[in-house]
Amino acid sequence: MNLFKQKSISSLIEEANQQGEGTLKRTIGPWGLIMLGIGAIIGAGLFSITGMAAANYAGPAVTISFVIAGLGCVFAGLCYAEFASMIPLAGSAYTYSYATMGELFAWIIGWDLVLEYAVAASTVAISWSKYFQKFFLNFGITLPHELTASPSEGGYLNLPAVFIVVLVTLILARGMKESTKTTSIIVGLKLFVVFAFIILGWNYMNPANQEPYFIENTGKFGEYGWSGIIRAAAVVFFAYIGFDAVSTAAQETINPKKNMPIGILGSLLICTVLYLLFAHVLTGLAHYTEFKGQDGIAPVGVAISHTPYKWLNQFIIFAILAGYMSVILVLLMGQSRVFYSMAKDGLLPSVFSEVHKKFHTPFKSNMIIMVFVCLFSAFVPAEIVGEMTSIGTLFAFVLVCFGVIYMRYKMPNAPRGFKTPFVPLVPILGILTCFGMMVFLPGETWLRLIIWLSIGLVIYFVYGIKNSKIQNQK
Ligand code: ALA
Repeated sequence: MNLFKQKSISSLIEEANQQGEGTLKRTIGPWGLIMLGIGAIIGAGLFSITGMAAANYAGPAVTISFVIAGLGCVFAGLCYAEFASMIPLAGSAYTYSYATMGELFAWIIGWDLVLEYAVAASTVAISWSKYFQKFFLNFGITLPHELTASPSEGGYLNLPAVFIVVLVTLILARGMKESTKTTSIIVGLKLFVVFAFIILGWNYMNPANQEPYFIENTGKFGEYGWSGIIRAAAVVFFAYIGFDAVSTAAQETINPKKNMPIGILGSLLICTVLYLLFAHVLTGLAHYTEFKGQDGIAPVGVAISHTPYKWLNQFIIFAILAGYMSVILVLLMGQSRVFYSMAKDGLLPSVFSEVHKKFHTPFKSNMIIMVFVCLFSAFVPAEIVGEMTSIGTLFAFVLVCFGVIYMRYKMPNAPRGFKTPFVPLVPILGILTCFGMMVFLPGETWLRLIIWLSIGLVIYFVYGIKNSKIQNQK
């Protein structure tokens, strides 16, 4: 047994070129990928977390937090782009680690990605449920608390969150073409709302709301001042999650060597610019203290109430309800594709790599993941799943940045469709920024990450190592 056994690049490239029965179908072009990226990125982070981060941690300087988090993502995104163009397989960071740091690390990162994809999908589903309730409330209908909250919030289960996960899974399992079509329509609507908010809100911004721009620290770590700005960066980081999910569509992409970097970096850059403008307008329309205690929903509504465009509020809620669907869809897709790769390698049961004959999707895997995500969505509160997502994703980004440096040293001449610029500077900056944000997340979140990874290690030593294909190769 060699825990650090690596998969060779040539075998990975061969795997990437496989076609025909039992493989995924190549249907996505560069625009499809950008849409997929934006579909996953713009969601609860922007529409809920921005206001909360401004109110509690950073004030109007939340725009700086967006810059810090955005930089961390751009550094990591450049590293993802190199790997995705070099090893275009559905396993994303999991596969990249298999080729660089070996099987044990690959397993750890594959298991960690469950936090980024499946657990993130429940976070967004829970936020969806809040907007769903708000939508009905605006028509005077209150949904019963018992059926719309987790037990720790005094309910039985969060039924709307379960509903949306089931609905999205059904679309996803039908096929990639249907999924990208649905995503494109939703992304159009989402972009329209973001643009409308920025353009219509711009003229009603009150400069007094952003003065002072930099709020003095209250004396408590993380409450305004620089420590607050960085803590807010770690929190709004959630808003950027998803650009790397593009890399899990590598085996369904036409000419992935060229199109992967376009999809990953294109969607990330578009969203970064929109986020800065959005945060600037949000904190310009309303004073940051107005966003306090708004239950994660109202920031946009509060800001709009300072404009004459009250109709925009209900429309935005509708667009958000649709918009979150694409986030959940791409995250669930990412999850099933990572498990697909892990199962192909023997580290997970083969049910996760079975492809449906007609739909060309990992149908059974989609259903199993749906059950898991529904359980989380129904019974766990939003903060816990949200922070677990952030720490898990940051951890994955750190390892991917490290992997790029390692790969350059180990295989300097392997063909790369895209090369991360200024190696090792860019990956080192990526590691520092992402690890820096991890440090600013609460201690319990670290504990949960450690517990999660430990559960993963038990599964690896009980199942994975015995069934691993490369361990059993003579
Ligand atoms: N970035 C995604 C969102 O904000 C996960 O919902």
